[in-house]
Amino acid sequence: MTDPARWPLGVTGLAYGGDYNPDQWPDDVQIEDVALMQEAGVNLVSVAIFSWARIEPAPGVLDWQWLDDTMDRLHDAGVKVALATATASPPPWLVHAHPEILPVAQDGTVLGPGSRQHYRIASPVWRQHVLRLTRLVAERYATHPALALWHVDNELGCHVPHDYSDDAAAGFRRWLKSRYGGIDALNTAWGTSFWSQRYSTFDEVLPPRSAPTSLNPAQQLDFARYSSDAWLEHYRAIRDVLRDVTPHVPATTNFMVTTRNKWMDYVAWAEDMDVVANDHYLIGDDPEAHVELAFSADLTRGVAGGKPWILMEHSSSAVNWQPHNRAKRPGEMLRNSFQHVAHGADAVMFFQWRASASGAEKYHSALVPHAGTDSRVWRRTVELGSALRSVAELRGSRVRSRVALVFSYPAWWGAELDSHPSVDISYPGTLLAHYRALWRRNVTVDVVPPGADLTGYDLVVVPTLYLLTADEAANVAGAAEHGATVLVTYFSGIVDEHDRVHLGGYPGAFRDLLGVRTEEFWPLLPGEVHTLDDGTRADLWSEDLHLEPGTVAMRTFSDGDLAGVPALTRRTVPGVAGSPDGSAWYLATRPDAEGLQRLTDLLLAEAGIEPDVVTPAGVEVVRRHDGATTWLVAVNHTSTDATLRAAGHELLTGTDVTGRWTVPAGAVRVLREG
Ligand code: GLA
Repeated sequence: MTDPARWPLGVTGLAYGGDYNPDQWPDDVQIEDVALMQEAGVNLVSVAIFSWARIEPAPGVLDWQWLDDTMDRLHDAGVKVALATATASPPPWLVHAHPEILPVAQDGTVLGPGSRQHYRIASPVWRQHVLRLTRLVAERYATHPALALWHVDNELGCHVPHDYSDDAAAGFRRWLKSRYGGIDALNTAWGTSFWSQRYSTFDEVLPPRSAPTSLNPAQQLDFARYSSDAWLEHYRAIRDVLRDVTPHVPATTNFMVTTRNKWMDYVAWAEDMDVVANDHYLIGDDPEAHVELAFSADLTRGVAGGKPWILMEHSSSAVNWQPHNRAKRPGEMLRNSFQHVAHGADAVMFFQWRASASGAEKYHSALVPHAGTDSRVWRRTVELGSALRSVAELRGSRVRSRVALVFSYPAWWGAELDSHPSVDISYPGTLLAHYRALWRRNVTVDVVPPGADLTGYDLVVVPTLYLLTADEAANVAGAAEHGATVLVTYFSGIVDEHDRVHLGGYPGAFRDLLGVRTEEFWPLLPGEVHTLDDGTRADLWSEDLHLEPGTVAMRTFSDGDLAGVPALTRRTVPGVAGSPDGSAWYLATRPDAEGLQRLTDLLLAEAGIEPDVVTPAGVEVVRRHDGATTWLVAVNHTSTDATLRAAGHELLTGTDVTGRWTVPAGAVRVLREG
């Protein structure tokens, strides 16, 4: 269930709306805005995200009138507010008075104002001003009836995940002292015997600033951890002020679990959020961008521990920040929105309500486009509002899955460090390839961290988990010991959390589980493709792999330097504590899409997993559960009507379905089963 205490107060059904920037518009437009919001069925908007310079135009001079009017107008119209702390862009007067709040890039460049997020969270001056403004906003609107949720800052760490300033250096040292206690422990963890890097005191330690060549990888990883923790601590400091003033109002900030930022460990952040919120933007030049959307939504649900979450931003049509910003095709915005709902979102919000006339984002789509209401985009806005109202009963229901895809931010950081065997490994690309093969079979997937409880899953897929702790490795092995089919892929289990190699042969931490031992990586050159004995074409990676007794080669290389060497292996894993036997598979190369599909089908068959609903290619159906009540949310991404086997009451058309359920070409449908 959605926890009512953690959900935007007073918002019934699913939330619908977006970022609302009334401070960019004259009064008559603002008055039209609320009328249009009512017409579209908008019930939640995020206000004042970038409004500091408007609220406080000069030091200590406060102008609340416009925001009072906005809050009142929205309340009168029945629209609730996710009110921002207005701290996402420091006003010019503050930067002028305190240039020491500006962040510093790795090469020492001071990042200037004139854009946004030009602040360093490690600056005590910045912190003091942020908390001051937060308290002023919180006190001003603490009892306002429109206030439903606090929206802390905006996409924390989006543009400047890593600040290399002296303030950050001091913060990094404090963080390291508390992690390691003494300098000897740091020296051991970082392997500083290499290249004369041994430190005698913490005072000598710096962020990994630009250097002549490769930086210490453990230092880079710890700086990434420190930075993610520092952003989270910044969130907590703001949230604590909000809680102090308004203990009854939930707070969150918008994550970007896949889009544009790998540097915040949202798994570690999630429990500090009253409700998890995510921003997602389609990758315009990806012909299957909707598959990446589904992956992102499943990851958001995984980060949220399975609870319902808020889609805080997506786009009604084009964005403005990709090389080519294509408009959404007919039905695409509705399909995108319902995909997020299918995968567990209880809110569909957009950037932004009305398209800006000026500024860097004026070519970004919105719910009210430049063309006004006589437009396709506006008609879609109204259509979506009506569709979301008719499925309001989905609120609080959950998604269930028998398949876990294991994902880890630190493993992503580690896998993509420099000076590795191949520059061509893409962590999200690898995850997505496996996700896509499951999506094609309409199998629902939980994307979860390696420390999650994996014992309830029948299939666990572990792509390129380069870096993990001993506990996480044991947790993955535990899934196989409880009967699961477990697939681990190349460049997994190689190092510990300090990027120290597990000695004795690869893939170190998974060697026993998989029953294999690799002497040497054998990465393939760009364009180098080899064939496996079932005809699969494979590229990117191979290894000089040896099998332990009991491990079976399922596929071998037919050609190339490693002809005859296994590329796919399987070992039966004895069950523990009355569990059936499981299995541990190792994939030591990157198969082409057909080969990966064949392997995925093999694993699904071994694990006994079938989709909830059998669908034609390109038709996605996810079941949401609430106690004994279940709904099927269907999204047809194809240009052909689909007929599925299901029965119940269809909420968008208000019709009963008695066995043959038609989901028209390009359409969405929601069936309450029964
Ligand atoms: C992010 C930000 C928004 C806006 C959009 C544009 O998600 O939070 O303020 O810049 O990107 O896509």
